[in-house]
Amino acid sequence: MERIYVFDTTLRDGEQVPGCQLNTIEKIQVAKALELLGVDIIEAGFPISSPGDFNSVVEISKAVTWPVICALTRAVEKDIDVAAEALKFAKRKRIHTGIGTSDSHIKYKFNSNREEIIERAVKAVKHARKYVDDVEFYAEDAGRTENEYLARVVQAVVDAGATVVNIPDTTGYCFPDEYGAKIKYLIDNVDLKNAILSTHCHQDLGMATANTISGIINGARQIEVTVNGIGERAGNTALEEVVMALKSHKDRGFDTNVNTKEIYSTSRLVSSLMNMPVQPNKAIVGRNAFAHSSGIHQDGVLKNVETYEIINPQDVGIDDNSIVLTARSGRAALKNRLNLLGVKLGVEELDSVYQKFLELADKKKSVNDDDILMLVGKESRLHRIKIDYLQVLCGIGVRDVASIGLDISGEHFEASATGNGPVDAAIRAVKNIIRRKMTIKEFLIQAIDRGSDDVGKVHMQVEHKGSVYYGFSANTDIVAASVEAFIDAVNKFTDN
Ligand code: KIV
Ligand code: ZN
Repeated sequence: MERIYVFDTTLRDGEQVPGCQLNTIEKIQVAKALELLGVDIIEAGFPISSPGDFNSVVEISKAVTWPVICALTRAVEKDIDVAAEALKFAKRKRIHTGIGTSDSHIKYKFNSNREEIIERAVKAVKHARKYVDDVEFYAEDAGRTENEYLARVVQAVVDAGATVVNIPDTTGYCFPDEYGAKIKYLIDNVDLKNAILSTHCHQDLGMATANTISGIINGARQIEVTVNGIGERAGNTALEEVVMALKSHKDRGFDTNVNTKEIYSTSRLVSSLMNMPVQPNKAIVGRNAFAHSSGIHQDGVLKNVETYEIINPQDVGIDDNSIVLTARSGRAALKNRLNLLGVKLGVEELDSVYQKFLELADKKKSVNDDDILMLVGKESRLHRIKIDYLQVLCGIGVRDVASIGLDISGEHFEASATGNGPVDAAIRAVKNIIRRKMTIKEFLIQAIDRGSDDVGKVHMQVEHKGSVYYGFSANTDIVAASVEAFIDAVNKFTDN
């Protein structure tokens, strides 16, 4: 079997998605889940981009033992110096540096020329090699870079000491045969010495997984992926899709180190911490991925699962007991379920989550994994503004009116308002207390599961002083969830 190295960039390319930002503690939680999953390399951040990113790389380096920790830089000496500093506690470390190589990047982004770009690339790799033995170079927009020139860039950076060369299809433009041919061209025309080529595909045209597989077939030995395919715009290649495609086609001779039984819990953890719901029909980890609904399929599966199932759900860690918690479940059952979902809580946190679980279980017959992760998420948010109470009168033939009590840094405020519907009335009541200019730009309500007792998830974008803030909440009462999401966004205002 040929070993394919899995480079996870959920915490860097994935985390660039607006509204998906994690704090350092949450990033460590994800990094530990990735370690358990068995990824080879964790791209932990872009240290020069912010003190928060720098700190996350430092803390992840301390928290994780086995995977290589990687930090991103531009082909700029200062970036590389800062990345090296952030990686100082990593047991195994890599600097990932690079520059745009397509004609449009060279002309419009850098106002430069091809020769100068090669010089800058070589200089960056040599500088990074002063700090670490493992240097990865990315040729940004390689997907639209002419192959002959790309081969010259790759040769130059390998000669300068790059150990891995990343060939990103940054805009998600390539066709699978075209991307595969690009990898093959480089394998045939560059003396790679001991270096390997890496795929890094984006999903703009829905071809990221196909392009990654095509890259592997043509000689790439590292894949850059994110959990649930999370990433900017349409996202990156989904880790679970490529890993399971290789596992299901063992005859093709490729293998990874991923413990596939950890896929589902990692997917749930990332979805919940990043507030990014997984679409129900998402391959491998979607709620419907293994649900057979047509009579013909059900009949076949009952006779023999092989008729319509190419993957055993248990292979990705989905067990039939995923919806078992009820109001009768004890603290130990909740703790066990949380552990299975990759969440470890201290005694006090567990107590608090358990109380919230009991309240929810009283309202809902069965509490599922998404509900539990939602409760954990609520627990971890510390807010300056809290809701003391919310009372709403609404219905048909009545005027919608809401009264709210808010605790703002320990002081109690009350207000009421009427509105065009219960949510509008409640938000107006909040605005009667918090008198700042704020406009709701986006408001999305989604049921987590099914049934009228379900929890509604609310995502909201609130504009304030030219910036957009993201709020999230979940509650069986969707008016309460909406107000909580609004308050969540307001709590993030930087001028608080
Ligand atoms: O898509 C891309 O080109 C990237 C690079 C920074 C590696 O994410
Ligand atoms: Zn990318």
